[in-house]
Amino acid sequence: MNKSNKRAIIVGNWKMNNNRAQTESLIKSLRPLVKNANCDVVICPPFTSIETAISKAAGSNMQIGAQNCHFARSGAYTGEISAYMLKEIGVSHVILGHSERRQYFAEKSSTVHLKLLSALDAGLTAIVCVGETLKQHENKTTTEIVSIQTKVALKGLRIEQMKNVIIAYEPVWAIGTGKTATSNQAAQVCGTIRKTVEQIFGSSASQALRILYGGSMNPTNCECLLSKDDIDGGLIGGASLRPADFSSIINFAGKNR
Ligand code: PGA
Repeated sequence: MNKSNKRAIIVGNWKMNNNRAQTESLIKSLRPLVKNANCDVVICPPFTSIETAISKAAGSNMQIGAQNCHFARSGAYTGEISAYMLKEIGVSHVILGHSERRQYFAEKSSTVHLKLLSALDAGLTAIVCVGETLKQHENKTTTEIVSIQTKVALKGLRIEQMKNVIIAYEPVWAIGTGKTATSNQAAQVCGTIRKTVEQIFGSSASQALRILYGGSMNPTNCECLLSKDDIDGGLIGGASLRPADFSSIINFAGKNR
């Protein structure tokens, strides 16, 4: 499938920012700015702001996602929230395996895999994050790391489940640091991810897969990144908190089709 036949997607990862009042005002500012977007727009607020975001985004072209979920449907998992609970309140997407989860909460690819199965079973679209650390980047093991993370996360999935999977390449050293992978570096790794998916699921599933870049994407560098063949959108942290920046990335992503 040609890139131009796929809809771009821009996902805002708010991380642990924005209480309910701030969520209300940010969604209100975004509504008119993104109303003509020619791409999918997903906002991922913290859990406590999700319902506010859903009600304030109702009737707009913004969908609301979560930043994490547990792999069990329910049970004795203090402090956790299941994919089914998210689905019940109207969440459409969930980010899984973000590097901050891997780094601060010891999340492993095998756990990401279990969460992915649960998210898909619950009817969510999963945004699975992969990416190498600075050390792995310097040791030039990026290709190996990213393809192992991809394989472990996707293990045993049925091909039709891939329709609800998005993969985000986020070099850990580029997240929140102001450093971005060059567009060529990012495109090369996204190409590796696509090849890995092709080996498992074949060419049409890999061509249809949407692969995002994340890591200090902003209105200035998004043009170069989003115009690459293997990059179908962005996972945006810092810039998603600023309506003007976030909407200009969205509007560029839509135009670039
Ligand atoms: P950043 O975050 O855009 O602030 O680098 C990206 C992410 O962590 O998803």
